[in-house]
Amino acid sequence: MSDTQAILAHMSLEEKAALCTGASNWTTTSLPRLNIPQVLVADGPHGIRRIPDGHAAAHQSLPATCFPTASCLAATWDPDLLYEMGQALAEEAIALGVDVILGPGVNIKRSPLCGRNFEYFSEDPYLAGEMAAGLIDGIQSKGVGTALKHFVANNQEFERFSISAEVDERAMREIYLPAFEKAVTKAKPWTVMCAYNKVNGTYASEHRRLLTDILKNEWGFAGLVLSDWGAVHDRVAALKAGLDLEMPGPKQTRVNALIAAVRDGILDEAVLDSSVRRIVEVVGRAAQTPKGGDFDVASHHALARMVAAEGMVLLKNNGLLPLKNPQRIAVIGRAAQEPHFQGGGSSHINPTQVDVPFAELQKLAGKATLYFAAGYREDDCFQQDLIDEATAAARSADVALLYVALPAFKESEGYDRADLDLAAHQVALIQAVTAVQSSTVVILNNGAPITMHDWIDGTAAVLEAWMMGQAGGGAIADILFGKTNPSGKLAETFPIKLADTPAYLHFPGENGEVRYSESLFVGYRYYDAKGAPTQFPFGHGLSYTTFAYANARASAAVFRDVDGVTVSVDVTNTGAVAGKEVVQVYVHDHEARLLRPFKELKGFAKVELQPGQTKPWPSPSTSALLPSTTPLISAGSQKAASLTF
Ligand code: GLC
Repeated sequence: MSDTQAILAHMSLEEKAALCTGASNWTTTSLPRLNIPQVLVADGPHGIRRIPDGHAAAHQSLPATCFPTASCLAATWDPDLLYEMGQALAEEAIALGVDVILGPGVNIKRSPLCGRNFEYFSEDPYLAGEMAAGLIDGIQSKGVGTALKHFVANNQEFERFSISAEVDERAMREIYLPAFEKAVTKAKPWTVMCAYNKVNGTYASEHRRLLTDILKNEWGFAGLVLSDWGAVHDRVAALKAGLDLEMPGPKQTRVNALIAAVRDGILDEAVLDSSVRRIVEVVGRAAQTPKGGDFDVASHHALARMVAAEGMVLLKNNGLLPLKNPQRIAVIGRAAQEPHFQGGGSSHINPTQVDVPFAELQKLAGKATLYFAAGYREDDCFQQDLIDEATAAARSADVALLYVALPAFKESEGYDRADLDLAAHQVALIQAVTAVQSSTVVILNNGAPITMHDWIDGTAAVLEAWMMGQAGGGAIADILFGKTNPSGKLAETFPIKLADTPAYLHFPGENGEVRYSESLFVGYRYYDAKGAPTQFPFGHGLSYTTFAYANARASAAVFRDVDGVTVSVDVTNTGAVAGKEVVQVYVHDHEARLLRPFKELKGFAKVELQPGQTKPWPSPSTSALLPSTTPLISAGSQKAASLTF
């Protein structure tokens, strides 16, 4: 008999029911009689939010490294880097006594308006799944668990506790489930967190087809399913559906409900045992990793800086960047002194330290003189005198660096944005500065796409710095001065205007429902199908060098009845500085029997090349095997699907 079976055999009904309900905001129930310790959980996903024992969730958490948020992480296109970041997160979790990190979030970015998009990876399920798997693997390699969230179709904040996401089967299978499936099957997270919302009329916490039929039976998920905080409405129905652990606790009424349901024959005790078994297994795993000690603050800060630089995306550059030793630099925008590096809500971290962008610039600017102008003081008020001051500074400088952060009131967990725009005073500031200074760089701190059509033509360069984490100020300086060659690529489309977006007519829903009427056509899938222009497309990102592709080839000319297809290409750095390129492989089905997006991402890798160097991708040690499950071509047709790089 296994240890778990032995423990179960000695457990009373009351103890089983207690184990399936949290003991506090952040702990599961311990059963000392049976030597079952508590498990302590903490957010995530991009830092450890360890609330000191006994304090409410709103209390200041213990200091931890605030890494860049998921929208930046995805833009690195580097799962190995996320593995390394995951290991650092785990080291901090261990030091702070945390057994399970509540993240990553892999919800698909259906609309750029979603308030939590900064916490999610991408509009593309393949990229989101690969990045999540890298982070989960890194964290769990150190014996700390993760909670893949929010399962599923939690793609907005509006009425998130009750709204029903109405999703057709193909969109569910091809857009909203695949990132979870990839992360579950590839990285085996210890836990999966169910979403608050309903899916096609049933709460995710009570959705048997999702939690048991698909997650546990079809994908073989062996961990435990926990609820989002307060997502359980009917504890017995949830347990029957496969919701193993309700959080938070304590909730004695829920424990009593489970006991009564078994006693009244409403709930088969074997179903309860199944959840208990899963919980005991996770508790056992957590107990194997001793907690305590400390973590290397400096090296984690340095890693956060490197990750931020790898995820930042150079959207536009007329050649001004990297800066060529300017002597008079106007540094404009409050965000240069008060960096906006993370979002609001459950993911908010108390950073160990914070790089001030202005100070980091100063360190790399040599003999240059830096002139600071705030441009605006408050998040939502127009101050012409400050705009005039900034304009004067820009006019007399060699170059103007404009730090523009989306105001905190616009983007957070708990609510969605009403528009994609910067604040009016921010647009006015950019327009005023670029009108007098043609060498202006706009540096953006935002978690999700913003509109730029009102001001981008006047800029020389635009750097998307995202919610860059505590070391982002240094990362920006590294890129502006060329210490780091930017290599980030967009993991989500930047539309020209909100009305162009796929979900525009069906967001955020009404009468308790939000209809995913765009179905499969999310993100680039939609813009491709419409032939619609974008401000910047998925996969876009500039470098300080150039790359050439040659000799693209596939291991099969017709993709039918093959167990995957290996594609390869030679990549050359044709520029003068070292750089990294992200090779992206898309599949186009020439003759699909069913409606299909024009192209779909099915492979990628980041390659580093010295000037003049050529590398075959994939390198001999890896392969870009297109998954054989990819329906590359409809049966019967002789035409091959094509690959685009
Ligand atoms: C929140 C979030 C979830 C978080 C949890 C615990 O409501 O939806 O992502 O992990 O509660 O803070």
